[in-house]
Parts: sequence; structure tokens; C-alpha cells
Amino acid sequence: MPKPFILINLKTYMEASGQRAHSIAGAAQQVAEESGVEIGIAPSYMNIHPLSMHYSLPVYSQHVDAALPGANTGAVTVEAIREAGATGSLVNHSERRLTLADIEAVVSRLREADLVSVVCTNNVATSAAAAALGPDFVAIEPPELIGGNVSVSSANPGIITGTVEAVRKVNPSVRILTGAGIHSGECVKTAIDLGTDGVLLASGVVKAKAPIAVLRDLVSRL
Ligand code: G3P
Repeated sequence: MPKPFILINLKTYMEASGQRAHSIAGAAQQVAEESGVEIGIAPSYMNIHPLSMHYSLPVYSQHVDAALPGANTGAVTVEAIREAGATGSLVNHSERRLTLADIEAVVSRLREADLVSVVCTNNVATSAAAAALGPDFVAIEPPELIGGNVSVSSANPGIITGTVEAVRKVNPSVRILTGAGIHSGECVKTAIDLGTDGVLLASGVVKAKAPIAVLRDLVSRL
């Protein structure tokens, strides 16, 4: 049984930029070592390399394009995030949606590069569709709950159980995360009890006065 996975998306919050990204990563590494829970971090592109060099955490990109290396100005390629030290990437986050064709291409290219793919979805149907593409993870996040203080675990447990059932039916090897409003050990335990493999969160850690205290609470019920 794989260990629960907690993935922290730093987004473009100023509270998680520059040196502050390092303090969150340092806190996450300390709590991961204390608890044995796997904690990953998804910083801005500029921090992928420094964080992957300084910390033992899995460092993921928040997004990656389907573009191939070459004349693709401004694109972020799978090769570039791998060279920067990323071991995976979010795909199709609600704040960075892709077309279905691009999702398929990115998942395939991440797999070829031996990088982890976390495809973000917004309901049970899109979770089942994403599972058919064979990503490593599907992360179900109701967009209307993102950034709020009401957790998907309490506000909409049905979307979690529905996603678990649908994804298991399509592709049992795909692991499942849930996110949106996750902020406590209670939220995380409920998500695991509902059949997921962990959580994806941002503001509950990034905007906390003491991220390490929140991180310790997140793992306290596991
Ligand atoms: O990628 C996770 C994110 O969309 C959830 O945001 O602030 O509700 O934890 P938040």
C-alpha cells in the first residue's frame, strides 16, 4: 500500500516566491522526515532548479507544454523541467487548462521522460476520461472550492468517492489525489478514508503564518 502523498502547489503566491519558497520546502522536508509521509512541492518554474538541488522532496512543475524542443518561444518543455530537476508535473490545473489533445500528448511525453504526471480534473466524468490516458495521478478539485476555507472533503465527499469509483473502473493503476480548501489533518484523513492516495493543496500551507504547523497538522491523522 503506497504511503499517502501530500503535494503542495505554490502557485504564483508572493508568500511562496524566492526565499519564501525555500522556507516552505525546508518545512515540508522536515515534516516528511518526522512523519514518513511523502510530501512534494510544485514551485514556480524559477524555483524548480534551486529547490530540487537543496531539498530531497519531489519537486514538480505546475504546468508543462506539449511543445517539443526547438523553435517554440516561451514554451515550457518536458525536457526543460527534467533538466531543472523536476520529477513530475501538474497537468491541466483548473488555473491552466489544456485541450484534451494536449493533455494526452503531455501525459505521454512525461511518461517517456520517466516523469510523474498529475492530471487535474473538475468532476467525475473528466476524472474517468483522464484515467483513460494512463497518468500516474488524477487530482479531483472542484474549482469553486479552490482557495476557500471549506474543504472538498467536507463540502463534497461524493465527488471524491465518485472519482475513486470511476477511476478504479477505468484504470486501477492510476492513483488519486483530491484538493480544494484542504487545510487540516481532518481533511486529509477524510480524503484517505474516502479512498484517495492523498491531497493537493496550496493556500492552507502557503498563506499560513507558520507553514510548518499546518504541515504537522496535515500529517497528524495518518
Ligand atoms: O493545486 C491545488 C489548488 O488548486 C488547491 O488550492 O488553495 O484550495 O488548497 P487551495
